[in-house]
Amino acid sequence: MKRRSFIEFLGGGVLAYGLAPGFILGCKSPEKVKEFAVPFANMEPIIKDDLLLADGFNYDVLISWGDKINADEEFGFNNDFTAFIPLNKAADDGLLWVNHEYHHPMFTSGQTADAPITLEQIEKDMLTVGGSIIRIKKNKEGKWNLIPNDKYNRRLTAKTEIPFNWPEEIMGSKTAIGTMSNCSGGVTPWGTILTCEENYDMYYGERDFSTGVPEGVKTPGYYGWERFIDYPTEHYGWVVEVDPKTGKAQKHVGLGRCAHECATMKELSDGRLVVYTGDDANDECFYKFVGSKPKSLTEGTLYVANLEKGKWESLDWESQAVLNEKFKSQTEVLIRLREASKLVGGSLLDRPEDIEIDPFDGSVLVSLTNNKPKGNYMGSILKLVEKDGKHDALEFTAETYYAGGVETGFCCPDNMAFDPAGNLWITSDISGSEIGTENYAGFGNNGLYVIPRHGKDAGKVFQVASAPIDAELTGPYFSPDGKTLFLSVQHPGENSPSMDELTSHWPEGGTSVPKPSVVCISGPSLEALTGILTS
Ligand code: FEO
Ligand code: CA
Ligand code: CA
Repeated sequence: MKRRSFIEFLGGGVLAYGLAPGFILGCKSPEKVKEFAVPFANMEPIIKDDLLLADGFNYDVLISWGDKINADEEFGFNNDFTAFIPLNKAADDGLLWVNHEYHHPMFTSGQTADAPITLEQIEKDMLTVGGSIIRIKKNKEGKWNLIPNDKYNRRLTAKTEIPFNWPEEIMGSKTAIGTMSNCSGGVTPWGTILTCEENYDMYYGERDFSTGVPEGVKTPGYYGWERFIDYPTEHYGWVVEVDPKTGKAQKHVGLGRCAHECATMKELSDGRLVVYTGDDANDECFYKFVGSKPKSLTEGTLYVANLEKGKWESLDWESQAVLNEKFKSQTEVLIRLREASKLVGGSLLDRPEDIEIDPFDGSVLVSLTNNKPKGNYMGSILKLVEKDGKHDALEFTAETYYAGGVETGFCCPDNMAFDPAGNLWITSDISGSEIGTENYAGFGNNGLYVIPRHGKDAGKVFQVASAPIDAELTGPYFSPDGKTLFLSVQHPGENSPSMDELTSHWPEGGTSVPKPSVVCISGPSLEALTGILTS
């Protein structure tokens, strides 16, 4: 825990603001900022089937699983990452990208545990994953609404044809069919979306090389799609870029293949790109791609973090003898990234999830959600500082920024977002089956937390929202004016034993079926936090 030094750093606020990006320089009253106190009480942990918010926050459901977005397409299941791309200067009209991470066959295609899965059911499920693009507008009352049948509304699903951005074929093909497991993501400086294929092996399985069989051994997927459809698993596990205005997508092979949680991009002053991305599994690694040409995610080098040495280790097949001996090509290194990263000394981390770059000091924050086999149930946030503050540096220092636990008030950190005033927002991901159990005594349902960066409460952790039963709050994303927080409520009622024994009825209540939904959070407490530097 480096909380004291962090608060001291904030105490030197004027210096900190000097380093901040333009939007933070709108400070009208330094005295007001110094005196700022969070205008609501910290929520007490609670286990209740509702989306509960702290005082001065409210929400509207924007869209739910199954809602029609046009004549032929519906909003998908288990919404995760969201990103708002404004279409006008007022930013009250825009496109919302939403990831649909995975499906629940009982809800999406009526599968039951005692009946074998059918191709017909899979075909239905294939349309519930991927992503959605929806046009949304704010009305006079300040409420966001879906514009049904808008020309921009469209779905990407497990059936969408997507080309690889790479000079070589991947398993004999230049294109993949579908994108699945879209967990978190990022936004590029040119307004496209990076959507990350995380637990891809659930769909078409994996190829296991650990037994020494040269061509590997196919292992089954959780959903067993490979028993009906013959798509290579190597076509999944990539970072996918989507243009929200056209729906055109491409899979960026240069960023490697693993259980990508997210991809966070930084454009260097010469136009080259740096992309940070983590592999969310126990004892997996943290990566960064450094481009060698402006705007390119193909030409450049992928590195893996070695925390013990404070070094970024290259995954370049040509220059790394150990990779050259083991693999046939750079393409094979990228496809079998997990094996390659261990050979060059990548550090084994506690499930690297979301990544954000601190707008004040440029440090890179990484959620390490937990590592239960190692006895780490609470997780932490890692702070990585690149040498000389340069994102293309090959050396860094790293330390624990916040440790999860009863003292800090949150655990299992997952998604993060900085608001327009630089406050840090965190969501938690306690596994649905472990909520309320002994390991998580002292915590309620999953939540949303804020760490203010200004005033009297700077550095403290406040719980702002509590999720419905079995759910996780994901994909926090702020509107440019900071007045709306888009947030996904993912997998409510996920552990329901059957359709007759539902554990959640959120959001419609009564005896209704639970529906993953995107909500818009607003209210005076939100505006007090996000507007502290400008109002
Ligand atoms: Fe899909 Fe790592 O959360
Ligand atoms: Ca996540
Ligand atoms: Ca998670």
